Amino acid sequence: MPERIAIYPGSFDPLTLGHLNLIQRGLETFDKLIVAVVYNPNKSALFPPEERMQMIRESVKNDPRIEVDSFHGLLVDYCARKNCNMVLRGLRAAQDFEYEFEMAMMNRRLRPGLELVFMMTDDAFFYISATMVREVAKLGGDVSQFVPPQVLEHLKARFAAKASKGS
Ligand code: PNS
Repeated sequence: MPERIAIYPGSFDPLTLGHLNLIQRGLETFDKLIVAVVYNPNKSALFPPEERMQMIRESVKNDPRIEVDSFHGLLVDYCARKNCNMVLRGLRAAQDFEYEFEMAMMNRRLRPGLELVFMMTDDAFFYISATMVREVAKLGGDVSQFVPPQVLEHLKARFAAKASKGS
């Protein structure tokens, strides 16, 4: 049987326990996942794409079933380059649905044949978003229950560096 491979794209700024849970559950359905950090030069990010990839690699502990990569430009072009027509995304609440639905429709118009698989986030991670993690961490809150320990270290270093620069 051919390998079932899916691309799991996202900003991952940073990877949360919700993302990690989706990766682990995704691997029950797919043989291999390509976790693709999307680099959007117009969007200001907390971590550069290389560090986001590094945090993912550290958190998945070099699992051979997971390839960590990055791209900029359109997801459909990346799928074409990777010769992969399967995309995995997580869904949390109703507000995710509208955004994901629009993106899915657009992507399928741009690349007919593309399949998108949505997995519901585990209820333990329902309320976690990278945006909130960034906000809480920036304001000095404890985010250890929302991110893998490896990511926590990067967040601490990031905000220690910012504090020492006075920003
Ligand atoms: O983690 P995010 O920010 O919710 O992920 C959204 C992402 C990065 C998957 C989406 O914005 C994306 O695919 N960006 C690549 C550019 C693109 O293809 N845009 C058209 C989507 S309709």
